[in-house]
Amino acid sequence: MVKYTGDNEEWNKNWQSRSEANYIHWTKDDPVNQIQLAFRNHWELFNTFMSSKLFNKGKRVLEVGAGRGSLSAYFSDAGYDCTLLDLSPDVIEIAKNIYSSNDLKANFVVGDAYDMDFEDNSYDVVFSIGVFEHFEDIVTPIKEQVRILDKGGLFIAYIVPEYQDNVQKKYNWINELLKGYESNLKTDTNSQSKEEVYRSDRWSEKYLPVMKQMGLSGISSCGTYPLPMISHSIEFPFSLMPEKSELALVRHFKEMLSKNTKYDHPWMCEEGYGNSFVVWGYKD
Ligand SMILES: C[S@@+](CC[C@H](N)C(=O)[O-])C[C@H]1O[C@@H](n2cnc3c(N)ncnc32)[C@H](O)[C@@H]1O
Repeated sequence: MVKYTGDNEEWNKNWQSRSEANYIHWTKDDPVNQIQLAFRNHWELFNTFMSSKLFNKGKRVLEVGAGRGSLSAYFSDAGYDCTLLDLSPDVIEIAKNIYSSNDLKANFVVGDAYDMDFEDNSYDVVFSIGVFEHFEDIVTPIKEQVRILDKGGLFIAYIVPEYQDNVQKKYNWINELLKGYESNLKTDTNSQSKEEVYRSDRWSEKYLPVMKQMGLSGISSCGTYPLPMISHSIEFPFSLMPEKSELALVRHFKEMLSKNTKYDHPWMCEEGYGNSFVVWGYKD
């Protein structure tokens, strides 16, 4: 069986081919673009998981498949002892530079989520964002992450599967329209071909029994990111539009979120509606 299709070289090329690889989605100030708004909401959502009585309230945090470490930056800024692990040496170098230019502290490790060189029980939070959907075998990395969690430690996986009918579907016409403008202006700096990596269409129901089997309790899941991604380059949805357009979207999206009062946090939604879903649990 293929362990993961995104091998080291593929991920390295993927990072090298992206002109937006050098900026981080973390900000101390009010978010000024939709991706910063998304990461601010991921952070707030993760804080609701950390407010559980089941969590040991420890400060040792590992991000698996960290990329530039946009979410770890929130943990680091809040005083957590952060480690960023990624298979791609290139992105670990990028992350080091970004952290040092933003005065953020962390440990950086090139490593494989399937076999991590960390002691048992050595972290209080182990999380990943946009990583599990690239794995065919999810059992081994879940087992690895639970192994290194301490008692009362929190496991979080934020997963972006192949979804057909989510919130994005209603808004794709805007992206098509923006793409037309962009190609006309010929200002697209992201037009290089993107390295294709494997993406699964598994929903949370496939993760929950594995998490239980590995010794997690208080296991939960929900849909998340209940907003569309609006971009002239939806293949690279993190490509930013001009500042004023991004600011207008942030204002509009905040308004939309303020009306989503059905859940513990407005970033939560029904699974299948948002762009992604999240699963979490605490080590017994
Ligand atoms: C879609 S990116 C997400 C990056 C980051 N979490 C973020 O939120 O921006 C997936 C990351 O997982 C990393 N990755 C893929 N397979 C991995 C593995 N087996 N072990 C560690 N990292 C891996 C890739 O190099 C890439 O940086």
